[in-house]
Amino acid sequence: MRIRLRRRRFGQLIMIGTMMATVGNWMKRSIAQTSPQPPLVPSPSQSNVVNVALNINGKSHSLKLEPRVTLLDALREHIGLTGSKKGCDHGQCGACTVIVDGRRVLSCLTLMATCEGADVTTSEGLAQGDDLHPMQAAFIKHDGFQCGYCTPGQICSAVAVLNEAKNGEASYVTTDVRQKPRAVQLTDDEIKERMSGNICRCGAYPNIVAAIREVHTGKAQAQTWQFAGENETAIFDVPEMKKETGEAAA
Ligand code: FES
Ligand code: FES
Repeated sequence: MRIRLRRRRFGQLIMIGTMMATVGNWMKRSIAQTSPQPPLVPSPSQSNVVNVALNINGKSHSLKLEPRVTLLDALREHIGLTGSKKGCDHGQCGACTVIVDGRRVLSCLTLMATCEGADVTTSEGLAQGDDLHPMQAAFIKHDGFQCGYCTPGQICSAVAVLNEAKNGEASYVTTDVRQKPRAVQLTDDEIKERMSGNICRCGAYPNIVAAIREVHTGKAQAQTWQFAGENETAIFDVPEMKKETGEAAA
């Protein structure tokens, strides 16, 4: 009799223990579902943000960015200045060239975090209102571009090349590098060498050199092209063509 009572009591204890364990597990699961789990990897926007204040084309900008954002991406994606182009994104084509504190840099290889307090000039900042920079006007006059993709970088580079020459900075083809600083006269070879980091897949090189030569020497060079005048367009003045274009036949 005594043994039977003990067995019953033992069975009751096991049942109570099982029930408590089940309720405990259920409560644990409920708590886990309602309380947010800390993320394993913090989102990039919350971590490691740097503040950069700088001057771009005469305007102050203050940005909060990840440290790995390049100057090119900051200009194009965050500030909306899309003049500087992303060609190779590897420092090999020059399409992204801008001027930082008076020197040309490849903005695809320049971290924005290193530009604190810098003075940046992009192709959009070269003109004064409606007045083009002389280098921009010379590129148009000499037809220094075709598709135009490389042109903002070419023009920024060319503007900086003129300053480098004015400051007497030698290049690989400067004949006498020991000559004490004095303005370097830019020959065509000097221009080609100094602009060799700017690739133009359209091959507008001869016209780019002519444009830079003109701005450097200040002497007007002959323009090698012009808009077609009335005489040139007269060959299109035939009734069949006018019909095709919807104009009334004479
Ligand atoms: S995009 Fe920078 S060098 Fe090509
Ligand atoms: S004008 Fe087309 S790449 Fe230079």
